[in-house]
Amino acid sequence: MNGGRNDLLVLLENYLLGWKMQFDLLAIRNETFLQDLIFEDEVDSTNSALLRLAAEKSQKTPVLMLAERQTRGRGRGGNHWWSNDGALTFSILLDFPMLPPELLGSFSLTVGLAVCQTLEQRAPSADLAIKWPNDVYLNHKKLAGILMERPDANEPTLVVGIGVNLNNRMQGAPEDIRGRATSLLDECGEFIDPSAFLIDCLQQLERRCRDQVHHRSALLDQWRAYCYLTGKQVEVQTGSRTIRGECLGVDATGALQVASESGTETILSGVVLSF
Ligand code: BTN
Repeated sequence: MNGGRNDLLVLLENYLLGWKMQFDLLAIRNETFLQDLIFEDEVDSTNSALLRLAAEKSQKTPVLMLAERQTRGRGRGGNHWWSNDGALTFSILLDFPMLPPELLGSFSLTVGLAVCQTLEQRAPSADLAIKWPNDVYLNHKKLAGILMERPDANEPTLVVGIGVNLNNRMQGAPEDIRGRATSLLDECGEFIDPSAFLIDCLQQLERRCRDQVHHRSALLDQWRAYCYLTGKQVEVQTGSRTIRGECLGVDATGALQVASESGTETILSGVVLSF
Protein backbone atom coordinates (compact mmCIF):
# COMPACT_ATOMS: atom_id res chain seq x y z
CA MET A 1 0.00 0.00 0.00
CA ASN A 2 1.05 3.57 -0.60
CA GLY A 3 -0.53 6.17 1.70
CA GLY A 4 -3.62 3.97 1.96
CA ARG A 5 -3.99 3.61 -1.80
CA ASN A 6 -4.24 0.37 -3.70
CA ASP A 7 -0.92 -0.91 -5.12
CA LEU A 8 -2.49 -1.64 -8.46
CA LEU A 9 -3.81 1.89 -8.73
CA VAL A 10 -0.35 3.30 -7.99
CA LEU A 11 1.23 0.98 -10.56
CA LEU A 12 -1.30 2.01 -13.16
CA GLU A 13 -0.75 5.68 -12.41
CA ASN A 14 3.03 5.32 -12.68
CA TYR A 15 2.60 3.49 -15.97
CA LEU A 16 0.44 6.32 -17.29
CA LEU A 17 2.94 8.88 -16.02
CA GLY A 18 5.78 7.10 -17.79
CA TRP A 19 3.77 7.03 -20.97
CA LYS A 20 2.67 10.62 -20.66
CA MET A 21 6.15 12.01 -20.17
CA GLN A 22 7.43 10.67 -23.49
CA PHE A 23 8.14 13.92 -25.31
CA ASP A 24 7.49 14.52 -28.98
CA LEU A 25 10.80 16.29 -29.51
CA LEU A 26 10.30 16.81 -33.23
CA ALA A 27 7.00 18.63 -32.71
CA ILE A 28 8.48 20.73 -29.91
CA ARG A 29 11.34 21.76 -32.17
CA ASN A 30 9.23 22.34 -35.31
CA GLU A 31 6.25 24.15 -33.82
CA THR A 32 8.13 26.67 -31.74
CA PHE A 33 10.73 29.42 -32.07
CA LEU A 34 13.52 27.08 -30.95
CA GLN A 35 16.69 26.76 -32.99
CA ASP A 36 17.90 23.77 -31.03
CA LEU A 37 16.68 21.30 -28.42
CA ILE A 38 18.58 19.11 -25.98
CA PHE A 39 16.84 16.32 -24.12
CA GLU A 40 18.35 14.47 -21.16
CA ASP A 41 16.90 11.68 -19.05
CA GLU A 42 18.77 13.12 -16.10
CA VAL A 43 20.74 16.29 -15.50
CA ASP A 44 21.87 18.17 -12.39
CA SER A 45 19.87 21.25 -13.29
CA THR A 46 18.65 22.37 -16.71
CA ASN A 47 19.67 25.94 -15.79
CA SER A 48 23.18 24.87 -14.78
CA ALA A 49 23.53 22.81 -17.98
CA LEU A 50 22.59 25.80 -20.14
CA LEU A 51 24.90 28.13 -18.21
CA ARG A 52 27.76 25.72 -18.99
CA LEU A 53 26.72 25.60 -22.63
CA ALA A 54 26.45 29.38 -22.86
CA ALA A 55 30.04 29.67 -21.59
CA GLU A 56 31.21 27.79 -24.70
CA LYS A 57 29.73 30.66 -26.80
CA SER A 58 28.97 28.45 -29.79
CA GLN A 59 25.40 27.40 -29.03
CA LYS A 60 22.61 28.39 -31.42
CA THR A 61 19.77 30.19 -29.63
CA PRO A 62 17.01 29.91 -28.56
CA VAL A 63 17.84 26.45 -27.29
CA LEU A 64 15.69 24.36 -24.97
CA MET A 65 17.13 22.01 -22.37
CA LEU A 66 14.52 19.52 -21.30
CA ALA A 67 15.14 16.91 -18.64
CA GLU A 68 13.03 14.06 -17.36
CA ARG A 69 14.76 14.40 -13.95
CA GLN A 70 16.99 16.92 -12.20
CA THR A 71 19.30 15.77 -9.43
CA ARG A 72 20.12 19.31 -8.24
CA GLY A 73 17.25 21.48 -9.35
CA ARG A 74 17.79 25.05 -8.21
CA GLY A 75 15.39 27.76 -7.09
CA ARG A 76 15.80 31.46 -6.36
CA GLY A 77 18.17 32.58 -3.62
CA GLY A 78 20.17 29.35 -3.61
CA ASN A 79 17.11 27.27 -2.72
CA HIS A 80 16.71 23.69 -3.85
CA TRP A 81 13.91 22.97 -6.36
CA TRP A 82 12.21 19.73 -5.47
CA SER A 83 10.47 17.77 -8.22
CA ASN A 84 9.30 14.21 -8.79
CA ASP A 85 8.19 12.09 -11.76
CA GLY A 86 5.62 13.83 -13.90
CA ALA A 87 6.87 17.36 -13.15
CA LEU A 88 7.96 19.43 -16.14
CA THR A 89 11.44 20.92 -15.80
CA PHE A 90 13.08 22.87 -18.60
CA SER A 91 15.22 25.90 -19.38
CA ILE A 92 15.67 28.10 -22.41
CA LEU A 93 18.81 29.98 -23.40
CA LEU A 94 17.71 33.15 -25.16
CA ASP A 95 19.42 36.04 -26.86
CA PHE A 96 17.32 39.07 -26.07
CA PRO A 97 19.17 42.21 -27.19
CA MET A 98 15.87 44.17 -27.27
CA LEU A 99 15.39 43.76 -23.52
CA PRO A 100 16.90 46.77 -21.76
CA PRO A 101 18.79 45.86 -18.56
CA GLU A 102 16.37 47.92 -16.42
CA LEU A 103 13.49 45.66 -17.53
CA LEU A 104 15.31 42.43 -16.91
CA GLY A 105 13.76 42.03 -13.46
CA SER A 106 10.26 42.37 -14.88
CA PHE A 107 10.89 39.66 -17.43
CA SER A 108 10.11 36.93 -14.89
CA LEU A 109 6.58 38.43 -14.66
CA THR A 110 6.30 38.11 -18.43
CA VAL A 111 7.43 34.49 -18.29
CA GLY A 112 4.97 33.88 -15.43
CA LEU A 113 2.23 35.36 -17.57
CA ALA A 114 3.04 32.98 -20.44
CA VAL A 115 2.88 30.04 -18.00
CA CYS A 116 -0.46 31.26 -16.55
CA GLN A 117 -1.98 31.68 -19.99
CA THR A 118 -0.86 28.19 -21.02
CA LEU A 119 -2.38 26.72 -17.88
CA GLU A 120 -5.58 28.65 -18.35
CA GLN A 121 -6.26 26.87 -21.63
CA ARG A 122 -6.26 23.57 -19.73
CA ALA A 123 -7.97 24.72 -16.57
CA PRO A 124 -10.26 27.62 -17.55
CA SER A 125 -11.95 27.84 -14.17
CA ALA A 126 -8.75 27.62 -12.12
CA ASP A 127 -7.65 30.55 -10.00
CA LEU A 128 -4.25 31.39 -11.54
CA ALA A 129 -1.96 34.18 -10.43
CA ILE A 130 1.62 35.43 -10.53
CA LYS A 131 3.20 35.91 -7.14
CA TRP A 132 5.82 38.60 -7.62
CA PRO A 133 8.42 38.14 -8.82
CA ASN A 134 8.65 34.59 -10.11
CA ASP A 135 6.00 32.16 -8.86
CA VAL A 136 2.82 30.91 -10.48
CA TYR A 137 0.01 30.13 -8.08
CA LEU A 138 -2.98 27.89 -8.64
CA ASN A 139 -5.83 27.93 -6.14
CA HIS A 140 -3.60 29.76 -3.63
CA LYS A 141 -0.72 27.28 -3.79
CA LYS A 142 2.55 27.38 -5.72
CA LEU A 143 2.34 25.46 -8.98
CA ALA A 144 5.38 26.69 -10.90
CA GLY A 145 8.63 28.54 -10.28
CA ILE A 146 10.86 30.55 -12.60
CA LEU A 147 14.60 31.03 -12.25
CA MET A 148 16.25 33.59 -14.53
CA GLU A 149 20.02 33.80 -14.75
CA ARG A 150 22.48 35.70 -16.90
CA PRO A 151 25.44 33.70 -18.20
CA ASP A 152 27.44 36.88 -18.82
CA ALA A 153 26.57 40.32 -17.43
CA ASN A 154 27.99 41.97 -20.56
CA GLU A 155 25.87 40.04 -23.02
CA PRO A 156 22.12 40.05 -23.65
CA THR A 157 21.75 36.32 -23.08
CA LEU A 158 19.38 34.87 -20.51
CA VAL A 159 18.70 31.45 -19.10
CA VAL A 160 15.03 31.11 -18.21
CA GLY A 161 14.32 28.01 -16.12
CA ILE A 162 10.77 26.86 -15.50
CA GLY A 163 9.53 24.11 -13.22
CA VAL A 164 5.84 23.21 -13.45
CA ASN A 165 4.08 20.64 -11.27
CA LEU A 166 2.15 19.20 -14.17
CA ASN A 167 1.54 15.44 -14.05
CA ASN A 168 3.09 14.79 -10.66
CA ARG A 169 1.40 14.48 -7.31
CA MET A 170 2.47 16.38 -4.22
CA GLN A 171 1.82 13.33 -2.07
CA GLY A 172 5.52 12.37 -2.19
CA ALA A 173 6.83 15.87 -1.49
CA PRO A 174 8.56 16.89 1.75
CA GLU A 175 6.00 18.11 4.27
CA ASP A 176 6.87 21.82 4.14
CA ILE A 177 6.47 21.81 0.34
CA ARG A 178 3.25 19.78 0.45
CA GLY A 179 1.63 22.46 2.60
CA ARG A 180 2.25 25.31 0.19
CA ALA A 181 2.59 23.76 -3.28
CA THR A 182 0.27 21.93 -5.62
CA SER A 183 0.17 20.28 -9.04
CA LEU A 184 -2.20 20.54 -11.95
CA LEU A 185 -2.93 16.83 -11.60
CA ASP A 186 -3.80 17.24 -7.93
CA GLU A 187 -6.05 20.22 -8.64
CA CYS A 188 -7.74 19.11 -11.85
CA GLY A 189 -7.37 15.32 -11.76
CA GLU A 190 -6.31 15.02 -15.40
CA PHE A 191 -3.06 14.08 -17.09
CA ILE A 192 -1.84 16.73 -19.51
CA ASP A 193 0.16 15.94 -22.66
CA PRO A 194 3.53 17.47 -21.68
CA SER A 195 4.64 18.04 -25.30
CA ALA A 196 1.48 19.96 -26.19
CA PHE A 197 1.81 21.92 -22.96
CA LEU A 198 5.42 22.79 -23.68
CA ILE A 199 4.67 23.82 -27.26
CA ASP A 200 1.87 26.13 -26.11
CA CYS A 201 4.04 27.54 -23.36
CA LEU A 202 6.89 28.34 -25.77
CA GLN A 203 4.48 29.90 -28.26
CA GLN A 204 2.96 32.05 -25.51
CA LEU A 205 6.45 33.01 -24.38
CA GLU A 206 7.41 34.09 -27.88
CA ARG A 207 4.30 36.31 -28.08
CA ARG A 208 4.93 37.80 -24.65
CA CYS A 209 8.59 38.51 -25.59
CA ARG A 210 7.27 40.56 -28.50
CA ASP A 211 4.87 42.36 -26.15
CA GLN A 212 7.79 43.06 -23.82
CA VAL A 213 9.28 45.18 -26.61
CA HIS A 214 6.26 46.44 -28.60
CA HIS A 215 3.16 46.35 -26.39
CA ARG A 216 4.34 47.27 -22.95
CA SER A 217 1.14 48.86 -21.72
CA ALA A 218 -0.95 45.80 -22.65
CA LEU A 219 1.64 43.67 -20.88
CA LEU A 220 1.47 45.85 -17.78
CA ASP A 221 -2.33 45.45 -17.69
CA GLN A 222 -1.88 41.69 -17.77
CA TRP A 223 0.82 41.60 -15.07
CA ARG A 224 -1.58 43.61 -12.93
CA ALA A 225 -4.57 41.41 -13.68
CA TYR A 226 -2.64 38.34 -12.52
CA CYS A 227 -0.83 39.90 -9.54
CA TYR A 228 -1.47 37.68 -6.52
CA LEU A 229 -0.22 40.13 -3.91
CA THR A 230 -2.30 43.20 -4.79
CA GLY A 231 -4.39 44.25 -1.79
CA LYS A 232 -2.58 41.86 0.59
CA GLN A 233 -0.48 42.80 3.61
CA VAL A 234 3.07 41.85 2.69
CA GLU A 235 6.51 41.74 4.23
CA VAL A 236 9.32 42.06 1.69
CA GLN A 237 13.06 41.71 2.24
CA THR A 238 15.02 43.94 -0.12
CA GLY A 239 18.74 44.20 0.51
CA SER A 240 19.11 44.80 4.25
CA ARG A 241 15.61 46.31 4.60
CA THR A 242 12.31 44.68 5.43
CA ILE A 243 9.31 46.58 4.13
CA ARG A 244 5.82 45.96 5.48
CA GLY A 245 2.51 47.25 4.21
CA GLU A 246 -0.29 46.81 1.73
CA CYS A 247 0.77 45.72 -1.74
CA LEU A 248 -0.47 48.17 -4.37
CA GLY A 249 0.55 45.99 -7.31
CA VAL A 250 3.38 46.39 -9.82
CA ASP A 251 4.49 49.49 -11.72
CA ALA A 252 5.43 49.83 -15.39
CA THR A 253 8.92 48.42 -14.78
CA GLY A 254 7.57 45.39 -12.93
CA ALA A 255 8.66 46.73 -9.53
CA LEU A 256 6.44 45.89 -6.55
CA GLN A 257 4.72 48.81 -4.88
CA VAL A 258 4.01 48.68 -1.19
CA ALA A 259 2.18 51.31 0.90
CA SER A 260 4.28 51.29 4.07
CA GLU A 261 4.08 53.54 7.14
CA SER A 262 6.68 55.83 5.60
CA GLY A 263 5.00 56.11 2.19
CA THR A 264 4.87 54.16 -1.05
CA GLU A 265 7.93 51.98 -1.56
CA THR A 266 8.98 50.78 -5.01
CA ILE A 267 10.78 47.47 -4.74
CA LEU A 268 12.86 46.42 -7.73
CA SER A 269 14.00 43.09 -6.35
CA GLY A 270 13.42 41.19 -3.17
CA VAL A 271 11.97 38.22 -1.41
CA VAL A 272 8.38 38.22 -0.18
CA LEU A 273 8.67 36.86 3.36
CA SER A 274 4.96 36.81 4.14
CA PHE A 275 1.68 37.68 2.49
C1 BTN B 1 11.86 29.17 -7.63
O1 BTN B 1 10.67 28.95 -7.39
O2 BTN B 1 12.64 29.60 -6.76
C2 BTN B 1 12.37 28.90 -9.02
C3 BTN B 1 12.34 27.45 -9.36
C4 BTN B 1 12.84 27.15 -10.76
C5 BTN B 1 12.91 25.68 -11.05
C6 BTN B 1 13.30 25.39 -12.47
S1 BTN B 1 13.13 23.69 -12.87
C7 BTN B 1 13.97 23.95 -14.36
C8 BTN B 1 15.10 24.90 -14.09
N1 BTN B 1 16.26 24.21 -13.61
C9 BTN B 1 16.56 24.50 -12.36
O3 BTN B 1 17.52 24.03 -11.71
N2 BTN B 1 15.69 25.39 -11.87
C10 BTN B 1 14.71 25.75 -12.87
